[in-house]
Amino acid sequence: MPDAILKAADITKEFGGITALKDLSFAVQEGAIHAIIGPNGAGKTTLINVLSGFLPPDTGTISLNNQVITGQKSHDIAKLGIGRTFQNAEIFGNMSVLENVMVGRHTRTSAGLFSSALTLPRARREEKQIRDHALSCLETVGLLDLAAVAAASIPIGNQRLLEVARALASEPRVLLLDEPAAGLNTQETRMLAELIRSIQQRGITVIIVEHDMELVMDISDDILVINFGEKIAVGSPAEIQANPEVIAVYLGEEG
Ligand SMILES: Nc1ncnc2c1ncn2[C@@H]1O[C@H](COP(=O)(O)OP(=O)(O)OP(=O)(O)O)[C@@H](O)[C@H]1O
Ligand SMILES: [Mg+2]
Repeated sequence: MPDAILKAADITKEFGGITALKDLSFAVQEGAIHAIIGPNGAGKTTLINVLSGFLPPDTGTISLNNQVITGQKSHDIAKLGIGRTFQNAEIFGNMSVLENVMVGRHTRTSAGLFSSALTLPRARREEKQIRDHALSCLETVGLLDLAAVAAASIPIGNQRLLEVARALASEPRVLLLDEPAAGLNTQETRMLAELIRSIQQRGITVIIVEHDMELVMDISDDILVINFGEKIAVGSPAEIQANPEVIAVYLGEEG
């Protein structure tokens, strides 16, 4: 069995009186597609926010490749190799599809977003590298044809793919996806499943929060189930589908 690439130990996060995550521990195997499921309000997005440094946990430790990253800023965690998308697609509507992806690439380069406006040869070279790499990320998600289009004008399904392309542009080792199938039709969801598999085949570990159980059971190697911020089960899709507690609190709801 490969080693865990990402580990969370005893994570607690409270908002006022609400305990969104409670003593949560889990490990993600390198190269796996690892799903996180649970009812609305279970704490899934909070967990993604904590893993990616968008929120500090109150207690607990997160490590990437056995290096503790707890408390680091989201920007630095992105540099260390954790990329993410957002539950509500966070698109810069007034920028083109290509520019939206180029923003993701800038975490990797030294010149920075604004010095690229200078006509220094190094900045120009970097700009071209950023553009070429962004185009290859758009090709990966199947949006190359829309590169020049204003991002606000593309449908929600494509916006979700655009977010995946932007996250890929930062060359993550671990990619966190928060409900990537929300708003997608059956055909788009099928294509998303293929895309996630192809990302895994590149050696990127994928953590996916998702309500679409068919998708989750289809693509996941491991599944973590949380309810009211606590772990209630972890296992393979077959184990999770047969777990009485999971059926009672979660899958049972869906009939
Ligand atoms: N910034 C915040 N301030 C206050 N409460 C919050 C905040 N973020 C989340 N919560 C609360 O924490 C709990 C967990 O929320 P979270 O968004 O993590 O759930 P979720 O599992 O992602 O739900 P969903 O499936 O609906 O996206 C909820 O009770 C939510 O209201
Ligand atoms: Mg959520």
